[in-house]
Amino acid sequence: MTASSDRVVIFDTTLRDGEQCPGATMTFEEKLEVAALLDRMGVDIIEAGFPIASNGDFEAVAEIARRTENATVAGLARAIPGDIARAGEAVRHARRGRIHTFVSTSPIHLAHQMRKTEDQVIEIIQATVAQARNLVEDVEWSAMDATRTSIDYLCRAVETAIKAGATTINLPDTVGYATPEEYGDMFRQVRERVPGADKVIFSTHCHNDLGLAVANSLAGLAGGARQIECTINGIGERAGNAALEEIVMALRTRGDVLPYETGVESTLLTRASRLVSAATSFPVQYNKAIVGKNAFSHESGIHQDGMLKHNETYEIMTPASVGLTKTSLVMGKHSGRAAFKDKLKALGYELGENALQDAFQRFKDLADRKKHVYDEDIEAIVDNQIASAHDRIKVLSLTVIAGTMGPQSATLTLDIDGVHTTVQSSGNGPVDAIFNAIRRVVPHEARLALYQVHAVTEGTDAQAEVSVRLEEGDKTVTAKVADPDTLVASAKAYVAALNKLSAKRGQLNAQAAISA
Ligand code: KIV
Ligand code: ZN
Repeated sequence: MTASSDRVVIFDTTLRDGEQCPGATMTFEEKLEVAALLDRMGVDIIEAGFPIASNGDFEAVAEIARRTENATVAGLARAIPGDIARAGEAVRHARRGRIHTFVSTSPIHLAHQMRKTEDQVIEIIQATVAQARNLVEDVEWSAMDATRTSIDYLCRAVETAIKAGATTINLPDTVGYATPEEYGDMFRQVRERVPGADKVIFSTHCHNDLGLAVANSLAGLAGGARQIECTINGIGERAGNAALEEIVMALRTRGDVLPYETGVESTLLTRASRLVSAATSFPVQYNKAIVGKNAFSHESGIHQDGMLKHNETYEIMTPASVGLTKTSLVMGKHSGRAAFKDKLKALGYELGENALQDAFQRFKDLADRKKHVYDEDIEAIVDNQIASAHDRIKVLSLTVIAGTMGPQSATLTLDIDGVHTTVQSSGNGPVDAIFNAIRRVVPHEARLALYQVHAVTEGTDAQAEVSVRLEEGDKTVTAKVADPDTLVASAKAYVAALNKLSAKRGQLNAQAAISA
């Protein structure tokens, strides 16, 4: 693919730059789910992780590499021989594997972070890109903090990477500092000045610190870039990365002024957004472009009037084009399995037989307790199920005494690796009593950093969606669980967060309490 082609390569880094932001940790299984959907959606490259970071990261990249059918699978590596070898090993079994290696080029990073001279960094680029190219055909090299690097040194570094065998050159706006004009111009200058620039694909990678990540990415295209690095829901370090759904829909909707194409199936964007939100437990802001709850809703009378007369009065894209089905009443408790399966398909889920049966049973249980079951309820059921499929700690039963006659107390039974433990605890309110009970069964030092409750749909019988964030040292995890009973949802969300934490630290400190 050459830079003059109109095809834009979509490089998704939800599982790497997205996952590395505090609290957005995904489990191994969640990463596989997200990667499978990205592949189905037609993303060209999935950056599946940073293999040297941990064994968990390595295993996830290796498994995604094995399973992915169409997309190229990339593993990230610093400009360090051990990193590059590990990334090469992780993508070895991919149908198409890529090593993505990076080094800082800006004076501020060289002086304060790397403590290296420009000449030393040039030598590092030469050696590490050549090492990567000996392992795989497809090598991406990134100039970290490119937008705060002098153009002369940036050209020298890019030329070195191309000569050493890089096939894609990424010029990130690592700190989200650039403006669109500057960013597009940087690509123009580098492509004009560097020999061999016409033989590689240039890539954008924009952070959103000034809210310019998508605008900068599009400006990069005007400057000749033909790969965009982005994430679902725009998750990522600090203010996040350029949002994939915004890039795809901007190119699709404004083809008149942005004459580029992607291979992404836009009707899966809503599904991808919800899956990533469920896996990371990061809520999507209501007014988020393309995938926010309000992105296609029209409240004011004048807008509603226009919409009733003609939908193009206030809609520049249809909800269907991003896979948004109208919130609708789902079948009631008499609905059959086939209708339920159809509904799941319409919502973008493809479950295996066992998972389908499990989801159907949960749907029936909910329909028994709740008068109207909506699409959002079904999504909450399936997302809970996917997130908890491999949990080691499960809530078996919970009884809470609450009300004006304190103290409030909770009797809780947890299943930990098949061992059942029951405890009773009191607290300052029912939620405090539940969390105290959990802490007695699973002692830990983690701090509760967030406890939040939302209603999934309208009505007093709506499912409550509870988010819990725990912080332990430098580890932060967030979990989100829905249940018609707010207190049960609270217990399950806290336990889900502990499961994520235990997966992160690779151990579980429950033994003391179980034998107590
Ligand atoms: O923001 C950045 O510079 C990065 C690099 C590792 C590509 O994420
Ligand atoms: Zn980044």
